[in-house]
Amino acid sequence: MGIFESINARTARVGVVGLGYVGLPLAVEFAKAGYRVTGIDLSVAKVDAIGRGESYIPDVATSDVAEAVKAGTLRATTTFEVIRELETVNICVPTPLRKTKDPDMSYIVSAVEAIAAHLHPGMLIVLESTTYPGTTIEVVQPILEKSGLKAGVDFYLAFSPERVDPGNEKFNTRNVPKVVGGLTPTCSKLAQALYSAAIDTVIPVSSPTVAEMVKLLENTFRAVNIGMVNELALMCDRMGIDVWEVVDAAKTKPFGFMPFYPGPGLGGHCIPIDPFYLSWKAKQFGFDPRFIELAGHINAAMPHYVVEKVRDGLNAQRKSVNGSRILIAGISYKRDIDDMRESPALDVMHLLQKAGAEVSYADPYVPTLPGHEWPGGVDMQAVTLDRKTMAAADCVVIVTDHKVFDYDEIVLASKLVIDTRNATKVRAAHVVRLGAPLAASDLAAV
Ligand SMILES: NC(=O)c1ccc[n+]([C@@H]2O[C@H](COP(=O)([O-])OP(=O)(O)OC[C@H]3O[C@@H](n4cnc5c(N)ncnc54)[C@H](O)[C@@H]3O)[C@@H](O)[C@H]2O)c1
Repeated sequence: MGIFESINARTARVGVVGLGYVGLPLAVEFAKAGYRVTGIDLSVAKVDAIGRGESYIPDVATSDVAEAVKAGTLRATTTFEVIRELETVNICVPTPLRKTKDPDMSYIVSAVEAIAAHLHPGMLIVLESTTYPGTTIEVVQPILEKSGLKAGVDFYLAFSPERVDPGNEKFNTRNVPKVVGGLTPTCSKLAQALYSAAIDTVIPVSSPTVAEMVKLLENTFRAVNIGMVNELALMCDRMGIDVWEVVDAAKTKPFGFMPFYPGPGLGGHCIPIDPFYLSWKAKQFGFDPRFIELAGHINAAMPHYVVEKVRDGLNAQRKSVNGSRILIAGISYKRDIDDMRESPALDVMHLLQKAGAEVSYADPYVPTLPGHEWPGGVDMQAVTLDRKTMAAADCVVIVTDHKVFDYDEIVLASKLVIDTRNATKVRAAHVVRLGAPLAASDLAAV
């Protein structure tokens, strides 16, 4: 049976390399579609968890993993030899930035080299990691072809960006349309057939490079719009206008507008990073991507602005940052998830710590913060956000607006609140919202 037939018959042996936020949900969807899936990850802890039938990704139910493992449709391993038994491999490894903001391709390169060592004729390889346009053809294809097999002839190659949004209750791996670009029409057809089994809508594009650029357009669009609304927040603050009220009213326009909200800065594995993959590549063509750079500057400065608000708030109460006890409410990069990658809370905490504050944090999703995971360098443990901890703090900074926090209680129990997410509803002199100075009428009402 050829690969096309086995994909369609769902008898193909499917592999996923990298079982993180992207790879594990995909592996589970393939298993649900009836494929026998093998996950490959370097992390022994993750592979062991899957072996026990446990999920470590909040969006993936442990029952789904347990069921698939029990049914024999999902297994995991740390060794790449198993590639010899597989017909398809999706690569979902990390693509971070180096300190210099250049792409760190080391994860892709090492995963692809390990796959190349066991590549065999007829295989389909699909890269999913977000990366600069050209990666599949310029980096992945030559490494795989070192095996002596030719892409598009002896094996098939495609790129398909992942669009998963952790914590999103409405959109998941299955119901988010999947863009697919193959090296040749046959590569495209095979990748489309594979995804169609597990994902509701598949959108073909003409090449892997277009598919790579699609993802970077989407994430650059977000980074630039967030940068724009963050700048508007700084402007509104200066002009005495409530930016949140402005955005809420503007979003009633039924066409030509889409709301973006200001905040303490960008976080996560995608929005703060991916646009720099694009700007790095564009610069090689002598092109200066100005929107990306400008949005990057504005967004990266937001934690400093939050600290400025803390300083002003304490100053109004005749206190200094130095020596104050500051409690950070929420440190994951966005609401209701446990992901700390690039979280702006870490910068806010570090800046306050450097200014002499005694910093603590409360986050039910992040019980511990090891010193090596943030620039402050000290191991920390979450405190409970209760009346006692809030009353003991000179200032509570809402950085991540988890649903479990009681915002009325935060306002009642705290001496000073800096709200970077518009989470509080009570207007009071000791509650400072980012981009929304208190109106004289609010003060009069206090
Ligand atoms: N997390 C998101 O919301 C999201 C959304 C869309 C796209 N992406 C992109 O998807 C890719 C993966 O992101 P993620 O969030 O799943 O990362 P992750 O860190 O959660 O998972 C990556 C996994 O790959 C494993 N790994 C690293 N090197 C490996 C190797 N050589 N061989 C086998 N396994 C290896 C790691 O142990 C880890 O389990 C990135 O390019 C990211 O930009 C992420």
